[in-house]
Amino acid sequence: MTLKAVIRGCGAFLPQKVLTNEDLSRLVDTSDDWIRERTGIRERHIAGDDEKTSDLATAAAKAALDAAGMAPDDIDLIIVATTTPDLTFPSTAAIVQAKLGIESGAAFDIQAVCTGFIYALSTAEKFLTSGQHKRALVIGAETFSRILDWNDRATCVLFGDGAGAFVLEAQDEQEAGARGVMNSYLRCDGRLVDLLYVDGGVSSTQSTGHVRMQGNKVFREAVKRISEAMERVIADAGVDVTDVDWFVPHQANERIILGVVKKLDLRKDQVISTISGQGNTSAASIPLAYCAGVADGRIKEGDLVLIEGMGGGLTWGAALMRA
Ligand code: ACO
Repeated sequence: MTLKAVIRGCGAFLPQKVLTNEDLSRLVDTSDDWIRERTGIRERHIAGDDEKTSDLATAAAKAALDAAGMAPDDIDLIIVATTTPDLTFPSTAAIVQAKLGIESGAAFDIQAVCTGFIYALSTAEKFLTSGQHKRALVIGAETFSRILDWNDRATCVLFGDGAGAFVLEAQDEQEAGARGVMNSYLRCDGRLVDLLYVDGGVSSTQSTGHVRMQGNKVFREAVKRISEAMERVIADAGVDVTDVDWFVPHQANERIILGVVKKLDLRKDQVISTISGQGNTSAASIPLAYCAGVADGRIKEGDLVLIEGMGGGLTWGAALMRA
């Protein structure tokens, strides 16, 4: 029997507190014009002092379970993609499992920064199609505001907090039909660590550290590497770029997204973008954008959806699925 990993539902959660570009211009030497022109970002959500990554992740997971018409006990695998875990250990996935009241199955985190959701989705797809697990929660969740240097205008204006989740189910080919994750392409080039990293950690400084980024160098790598990944998943799936219905990119910078759209000859109206109101929520940005597309009726069952991401590592990748 050939199994496929089908997306049964998705859910999103954003903290209530909103930080606008105007607010930021009172903290650092920046302006609404500069941020909007260079990034497309207008505002972002920031977690409250009492909100942890696991709280955001659990809220998104509950919304995804509701959308799938499932109960927590139906889940036997939880994968959380995050760079901002509640604790050094145990995993945020373990904490989410407890918050959902799930008492069995496996739970672990994946760390690939802004590419984390694609790494997590690809991993879940392998676990489900092998027959080892039946239903998975794949969550991207971040409280990125906690690792920002709020005096560094080059980075603090870019990021926001939030969480998005998919419920994936293993279905045999006949039940799934055309639906399901088709393929994915994951890459990392660790020689480029210095372009984007956090200057602290358990075994180096015993502190959390702050995001450091050579933004223009990351920007230069982005369009090339992301386009290559997208072209590969499209070719490997045996489809044509003209078959793609929706493009759901990692929301790092509007200019990167438009650069990729141009390179692949996609149309701007195929892009699901949340960057203006959410900024870059790292591992959460792809499922948040996907959920926005489902919620407003753009992404419909059977649509061909292309996702991509790039982040610290550098890591990058893409995946193709039928909703
Ligand atoms: N407000 C005003 N001026 C600023 C700001 C700001 N917030 N930030 C930087 N500047 C200034 C710089 O100091 C510089 O001034 P100078 O010319 O006097 O030295 C000038 O603006 C240009 O700086 P650049 O860094 O060259 O600006 P750039 O056009 O490259 O835009 C940006 C910066 C938006 C960060 C862009 O490089 C970018 O988006 N890079 C990619 C980010 C990304 O994709 N990250 C990957 C995912 S994140 C993750 O994995 C965690």
